[in-house]
Amino acid sequence: MPASKPDQITLSRPDDFHLHIREGDALKSVIADTVRQFARAIIMPNLAKPVTTVKHAAAYREGIIEALPDALKNHFEPLMTLYLTDKTTPIIIHEAKQSGFIHALKLYPAGATTNSDKGVTNIQNIYPALNAMQETGLPLLIHGEVTDPDIDVFDREQVFIESILEPLVARFPALKIVMEHITTQNAVDFVSQAANTVAATVTAHHLLMNRNAIFTGGIRPHHYCLPVLKREKHRQALIQAASSGNPKFFLGTDSAPHPKNAKESACGCAGMYTAYNAMELYAEAFDKADALDKLEAFASFYGADFYGLPRNSSLNKSIITLKRENWKIPDSLPLGKQQVIPLRAGDYCEWKLSN
Ligand code: NCD
Ligand code: ZN
Repeated sequence: MPASKPDQITLSRPDDFHLHIREGDALKSVIADTVRQFARAIIMPNLAKPVTTVKHAAAYREGIIEALPDALKNHFEPLMTLYLTDKTTPIIIHEAKQSGFIHALKLYPAGATTNSDKGVTNIQNIYPALNAMQETGLPLLIHGEVTDPDIDVFDREQVFIESILEPLVARFPALKIVMEHITTQNAVDFVSQAANTVAATVTAHHLLMNRNAIFTGGIRPHHYCLPVLKREKHRQALIQAASSGNPKFFLGTDSAPHPKNAKESACGCAGMYTAYNAMELYAEAFDKADALDKLEAFASFYGADFYGLPRNSSLNKSIITLKRENWKIPDSLPLGKQQVIPLRAGDYCEWKLSN
């Protein structure tokens, strides 16, 4: 007989290993949503002017700390990253390592997603940087999609794995690699069978939705993100991986706020705003898979372990509690002077974070 389902769970405070919080007024609007739930977050560097230098990362970090609500100033640590370009030198990598506050470098294939135009045009261009990362132990975070417009948009992750990632892992066997926001069975299989240097983040939206959600009754711009949602069999593979207890799979929301009018447009931006109800969405996905007992390690332990950071449980006694409770998500939230539509806007979540 299956055990009765819990109505409340308590976890060590989780970390978000893939987060977009933008800058300026938008940053001030969204940061509290993350800090309510997470102790630390890997901050994506794809600002309008990408974060390519240690100096820029230091200034961005200051801006994030300044934007924190006073009561939470000492309760959140932004884990900064740099954006790799064709020109990233080994010197920059060594400076990043020495900074102590930069925890990884992000590879955007040029043109793959939002603000990736300055990204890497050919993987060979960053071999010297990757060598230095391998030496210093700084992880490589990858947006794993090819950009060739002739490749079907639903196949771009799989083709990236075969054409870029497999040879890369072979060439840099000691380089720590995180395949970000994986969306396919192919990625699950690749990461599972790879060496322990290779891990992956999984978003809540890819655990909860398949590609039908983009087209339910009409086109749904708030369900468009990159990598795009995939077929149901892929969603099931992600759920299986995230709830398997395999430490290679850990939490990264990829919460990516865009103004309402930039999403509800003839050419809408990619990205879902999930920071508002992130842990509630993950709890729902794990609950549906009868795997709530696996949520804590996925959300609070495995990512820190991979990055070589102390687990929050050993840093302090901080915890979060989630309760089974239906609650309505607001229709929209402020994003600077504009609005952002959170995932599930006007609809219900089945779990609620309690204060
Ligand atoms: C992200 C963004 O808006 O910055 N968008 C998204 O769809 N996930 C970029 C990214 O992670 O691809
Ligand atoms: Zn992202």
